[in-house]
Amino acid sequence: MMADRKPLISGNWKMNQNHFEAIQLVQKLSYALTKDDITAVDVSIHPPFTDLRSVQTVLEADKIPIALGAQNCHWEASGAFTGEVSPAMLQKLNVSYVICGHSERRQLFGETNEDVNKKVKAILKHEMTPIMACGETLEQRESGEMEDHIVDQVLEGLAGVKKDAVGGLVIAYEPIWAIGTGMTATPDDAQQMCAFIRQTVEEKFGAAAAKAVRIQYGGSVKPGTAPELMNQPDIDGALIGGASLSAEDFAHCIQYRLR
Ligand code: PGA
Repeated sequence: MMADRKPLISGNWKMNQNHFEAIQLVQKLSYALTKDDITAVDVSIHPPFTDLRSVQTVLEADKIPIALGAQNCHWEASGAFTGEVSPAMLQKLNVSYVICGHSERRQLFGETNEDVNKKVKAILKHEMTPIMACGETLEQRESGEMEDHIVDQVLEGLAGVKKDAVGGLVIAYEPIWAIGTGMTATPDDAQQMCAFIRQTVEEKFGAAAAKAVRIQYGGSVKPGTAPELMNQPDIDGALIGGASLSAEDFAHCIQYRLR
């Protein structure tokens, strides 16, 4: 991690925790973290939509310096889109970060790079930060298509986004074979791909954007693997699923620099 990019560690709760459980988890997490942790690392949590209002209330009432995040959103501000949630609604809840293009959304709900691009732009328009996820399948990795696939996801996802805005966003590199499987990419493999993503950003959006953009690694990050991953020069944070559901484990990941 480069000194001038502040790391961002994000907890993706996926479809877990009702709003009562969410309140307890946030409170436990706030007890487990120290002021120094939050000074050294930006932290965001991404509960399900039904928890957002409750979690927002706890974070604000107790002045807990953890950013509120969402896992997805639609690209329109309002309208006839049954079952969807708009970026304008998230902005009203003081949501700071919105994950878009998570591999589960792409694989299970058919999201395309074009959809992800519309979401990235809508999130930025509503003054929130996209965490745009990309990553390859094991098949793509083994057949040598991995890099082309990542370039397509990154460049199509960011098409039409201004250079200045690109520097402010977050890209999460999450190899699909490592998500929820207990198989983490080696720190070298993860570093290599994050450096490749940064180089892709540089070629299209210039050196300043590439230097500023934060790139997270995601896929079975645990307290034991976080330190070595976070020590890589092009890895600026982590997107954590399973381990973010335990306040203790998530706090230990955030405290990677002490371990
Ligand atoms: P995992 O999930 O940490 O459970 O592998 C990561 C993610 O899907 O964001």
